[in-house]
Amino acid sequence: MCGIVGYTGKKQATPILLDGLGRLEYRGYDSSGVAVASGDEIQIVKAKGRLFELEKLTEGVNPAGTTGIGHTRWATHGGPSDENAHPHFSRDKSFAVVHNGIIENYLELRAFLSERGFTFRSETDTELISLLLEYYYGGDMLDTIIKVRNKIKGSYALGILHAGDGDTFYALRKDSPLVLGVGDDENFIASDIPAVLPYTRKFIIPDEKEIAVLTPNGITVFNTNKEKIEKTPIVSDLSAADAEKDGYPHFMLKEIFEQPGAVKKTVHDRITPDGIRLDRIKLNGKDFRKICVAACGSAYHAGVVGKYFIEKFARIEVETDLASEFRYRNPILGSDCLTVIISQSGETADSLAALREAKRHGSRVLAIVNVVDSSIAREADDVLYTRAGPEIAVATTKGYTTQVATLCLLGLKFAHDCGTISHDEYLSLTRELKAVPDLLGKYIDEVNGKAQYLAGKYYPASDAYFIGRGYDWAAALEGALKLKEISYIHAEAYAAGELKHGTISLIEKNSLVIGIAAEPELREKTLSNIKEVRSRGAAVIGVTDAPQTIAAECDDILELPETNSAFSPLFTAAALQLFAYYVAAARGGDIDKPRNLAKSVTVE
Ligand code: G6P
Repeated sequence: MCGIVGYTGKKQATPILLDGLGRLEYRGYDSSGVAVASGDEIQIVKAKGRLFELEKLTEGVNPAGTTGIGHTRWATHGGPSDENAHPHFSRDKSFAVVHNGIIENYLELRAFLSERGFTFRSETDTELISLLLEYYYGGDMLDTIIKVRNKIKGSYALGILHAGDGDTFYALRKDSPLVLGVGDDENFIASDIPAVLPYTRKFIIPDEKEIAVLTPNGITVFNTNKEKIEKTPIVSDLSAADAEKDGYPHFMLKEIFEQPGAVKKTVHDRITPDGIRLDRIKLNGKDFRKICVAACGSAYHAGVVGKYFIEKFARIEVETDLASEFRYRNPILGSDCLTVIISQSGETADSLAALREAKRHGSRVLAIVNVVDSSIAREADDVLYTRAGPEIAVATTKGYTTQVATLCLLGLKFAHDCGTISHDEYLSLTRELKAVPDLLGKYIDEVNGKAQYLAGKYYPASDAYFIGRGYDWAAALEGALKLKEISYIHAEAYAAGELKHGTISLIEKNSLVIGIAAEPELREKTLSNIKEVRSRGAAVIGVTDAPQTIAAECDDILELPETNSAFSPLFTAAALQLFAYYVAAARGGDIDKPRNLAKSVTVE
């Protein structure tokens, strides 16, 4: 979704803004632009398309000036075009605005401004903010921004330039991400920390509706009562190198290979010789009758793995919901329910709304989040960070596996709390979980070549069906999503037992089926389903740790290591990520930034 960068300092703003926007490209966008203040004027340059279109127009340095704001836009109100690209001028060009979010009372504001003689250059909701700033401006910027803030409804992260204010610019947020970067004689705003990591590691995270005034010498933050407040910056432990490709052709491949290290960071120091310690979290499984998991995309798929895991070991009922459904279905919750919100970015609009809905119903909320101090992390009662490091590729890999690993930690801790597994079993499972990262490292190295070979054979497929039961079905959901989002092959996951109830009618000669059979108790059952599709002409890739049991019914095998089947989704995920990656590479897709997708979905 839209990305924002802002700079004020002693250097030329445009190159810094372009550099920052480059680091936000991964969020997904279809146009970009910059506005720079110089003297009493603001100049805007913007263009539809990828950043290089903007770079051609700016020639790296124009517009000149040391204070500016920049934006990558993911179209919502109005299609991708030069006019709809941000920044947006006010009518008199005294204000320029960049915005991430959605203004919900757009129609009402448009009518309000039309009645007062304003006309519109774009179809965007953002332009209305620039016009409102002009309309309400009475000499004091803080008062003006407060008036506009009171008028707009919806979600926003805003960067605002005002002509004649020298090297000062303004920022505020509500339900959309924005950080303030604290430098030496220079200060920044950005949609996320990695965007400006080469310049600073010190950040202030503004609270909802607070207004930040930035100059090269400092950042002043005002609360909703217009009082100046002290904010202590956090120091990010990320480095600029964390957000580089490091010799890999794509971030996605780099991130696949980073998984063993990321899972290790997630689990290692939380598993002590005496068992699991979940940071400072005091939750006890015995206190909960039910767990509700709400999340979107791959985070939801991690939740499905978590359901099987927690129910198996801790015997606590787990409901899994897509956050976009959960928020509107009036869920039955209370103080004996734990709601778990899973989100890599911690900013997904539906997941944040699900969190608020759960709290409204009196449920305790645990967030499993990667981005430190993100909105979901801040609003939850408890947080478990997944420690995956920055994830740049739109299609998540290490974000997902670290979520699964965190749910395994939670499930084992709750099983211990509830006494549903013996102490010995508990210690042995935690030891096995602690051994997963090293095994995963070896496995990814080994399976890489085979995944590449199979991708070379099957990349022309037009449809793919991923089937499995139990954990294997949960892993199938993620495998199918990975393939479709980056290769654009139509791919779906089905519970293997459900095939006969409709989907098998789609199977014909050479349909591609990925049959996952890692759960020993269910392997025979899945094998029957593999036989059914094969006898109807499907080409089958079997994914299993026991090739001898299913190889005769498969065209090819993607072998998994021998491990406790409860941890198998981590290995299946890695194998299927690599397969999807190489298929997409063979088909020539834009792997790190697939069409139409956004990394962080901050609108509903
Ligand atoms: C987008 C991303 C997915 C991600 C989903 C949820 O669709 O492309 O990779 O799984 O959002 O994001 P979250 O940040 O909440 O995990």
